[in-house]
Amino acid sequence: MTQDELKKAVGWAALDYVTPGTIVGVGTGSTAAHFIDALGSIKHQIEGAVSSSEASTLKLKGLGIPVFDLNEVDALAVYVDGADEINPQMQMIKGGGAALTREKIIAAVADKFICIADASKQVDVLGAFPLPVEVIPMARSYVARELVKLGGLPEYRQQVVTDNGNIILDVHNLSIVNPTELERAINALPGVVTVGLFAARGADVALIGGPDGVKTITK
Ligand code: 5RP
Repeated sequence: MTQDELKKAVGWAALDYVTPGTIVGVGTGSTAAHFIDALGSIKHQIEGAVSSSEASTLKLKGLGIPVFDLNEVDALAVYVDGADEINPQMQMIKGGGAALTREKIIAAVADKFICIADASKQVDVLGAFPLPVEVIPMARSYVARELVKLGGLPEYRQQVVTDNGNIILDVHNLSIVNPTELERAINALPGVVTVGLFAARGADVALIGGPDGVKTITK
């Protein structure tokens, strides 16, 4: 199976976690895009979705799925999204698609985070994938210097402006042995909007696509 076929398999498998009549939290990226296709097949059974990016909103609306503003929604049963890396503790690096801040907000609201990923995303220690950090533009150089003090090598993601009007620094050279502590430390830097470490609030369920099919891992 190709990597995209594995992503498709987990995207469709996530439908099992969608409760009819509810509003569903929807992530961003190529794996989440398969989940949106799957959601389109049951669109008459759900009330709608809350979306983590303009790109996902466009796709949801294109399939005729109503998209709600998060401020109109009190609770979400599930949030379904991909990851760039996931460790055995169900902590993740996210933000490869620059949507990390909205993703983290919706994940915070949802009762359950369902991570959908192909098996290449599984790691023992987070950090081989450069850690995305969304930063207010005027703080770019300051935050980059502080990230160097934390042991990283930040790289400005050229030509990318997030849906919130900010920039992304991708931090290389990290071996993240204490993800919760690093998440707290980076989030505390003035100018940082969000770090793409999902450690304090990790996934509750991971659907991992591999050659033997979709494996379900629960916390
Ligand atoms: C977007 C994300 C994505 O979930 C992550 O980058 C994985 O992407 P893909 O499913 O395309 O491999 O965090 O900000």
